[in-house]
Amino acid sequence: MACRAALYLLALTASITHVLGAKNPNDILRHSITRHGYPVELHKVTTQDGYILTLVRIPGKGAPVLIMHGLIASSVDWTVQGPDKALAFIAADQGHDVWLGNVRGNTFSKEHIKLSRKDAEYWRFSFHEMGLYDLPAMVDYIRINSSSDTLHYIGHSQGGAVFLVMASMRPLYNRKFASVHLMAPAAYIHRATSPVFQFTTRVEELETIAKMTRTYEIVGRGAGSPVELLHAGHKMGLIPTDLVLTNVWYFTGVHDSINRSIVGDILANTPAGCSLYQLLHFGRNHLAKSFQQYDYGPDGNVRRYGARVPPEYPLANVTAPISLYYSEADNFVPAEDVEDLADSLPNVVHKHRIGLRKWNHIDYLYDTNAHRLYRSVVASLTDQRGTAEKK
Ligand SMILES: *[C@@H]1O[C@H](CO)[C@@H](O)[C@H](O)[C@H]1NC(C)=O
Ligand SMILES: *[C@@H]1O[C@H](CO)[C@@H](O)[C@H](O)[C@H]1NC(C)=O
Ligand SMILES: *[C@@H]1O[C@H](CO)[C@@H](O)[C@H](O)[C@H]1NC(C)=O
Repeated sequence: MACRAALYLLALTASITHVLGAKNPNDILRHSITRHGYPVELHKVTTQDGYILTLVRIPGKGAPVLIMHGLIASSVDWTVQGPDKALAFIAADQGHDVWLGNVRGNTFSKEHIKLSRKDAEYWRFSFHEMGLYDLPAMVDYIRINSSSDTLHYIGHSQGGAVFLVMASMRPLYNRKFASVHLMAPAAYIHRATSPVFQFTTRVEELETIAKMTRTYEIVGRGAGSPVELLHAGHKMGLIPTDLVLTNVWYFTGVHDSINRSIVGDILANTPAGCSLYQLLHFGRNHLAKSFQQYDYGPDGNVRRYGARVPPEYPLANVTAPISLYYSEADNFVPAEDVEDLADSLPNVVHKHRIGLRKWNHIDYLYDTNAHRLYRSVVASLTDQRGTAEKK
């Protein structure tokens, strides 16, 4: 049995190179834009701690907007629905200078000035470092390259959490944003009910296994990786679209709203990988019912923070004008958690509770009608700092 399974996997792996071809990450990024007829530029940005990130730009004459993906996602997710449907193109059509981020550790931001992704040390980051180093590096670069004092920001899920980390821990960055739009920001997540969160009761074991096996990258891509096998299997018709969707719905709640003809395109680049420490950080915050810094255990916390429990992110420092978008049916970032977040933020200029009963966490990316939400977000990319001061 085991032998047959192994042979089968071997055959599948061999055919993968054939089915998918070997693609260079930069080519994938360029193709994600040019296949839809838009111009593209790739920009490499180096963080203070040496990670080299790839920003994808659809150049425009208007104000720059930085669009940030969520956990295990990438810039490609903002393009996969194509013109008139995907956020990147809707923003570009409105004349914006569109910049799509890729955080450290995903398929497209895996380089480092000294470390290799094979080093355990490379993967020692959570969303904390993304907020502290990745975002500021991107923001500084975009401001200089586009000769613009301020930019707009749109983030989904972890893309919201990283903004809040930056704006609370490095408050000087608040002034650099004309408006900030967070869709289901994964800050407070203690009411999350998705079965995904079942792992949180076993975070310690997970960490032990990772250390034993020296496996810190989760759902990363690469020849022969499980996610590439899934993609190849789907492409060859061995794994039906319905089976993929059923598994997605198990985690997100059933909402038959993804265009079936793009499921193959989605699987081609999503999931895009992350570090185990991102999962552990979210998991521990879920249990702690808090949006707080990484938990290193009582002794580690005393050494690092001078207290046995990690400090919360000081949300009172987030003075940029924030708009929040959230939904009742989101079992990752529930509406009540976002409302609690709104109460902790000093400058919420707009709250948009999505009225669709089944709108779930990934509908922000893949719902066939997500373009309606995108149009309303893009229409509000105006300077909202004035609103800020009046409040
Ligand atoms: C922006 O980046 C491009 C590509 O690296 C470069 O050619 C251009 O000179 C930069 N512009 C500014 C104003 O820095
Ligand atoms: C953030 O706000 C807290 C008070 O809530 C303040 O003590 C702290 O200095 C601020 N952080 C930074 C980095 O300015
Ligand atoms: C589904 O995707 C296909 C391929 O991109 C597109 O032609 C079609 O219009 C989409 N359908 C809907 C309902 O968006």
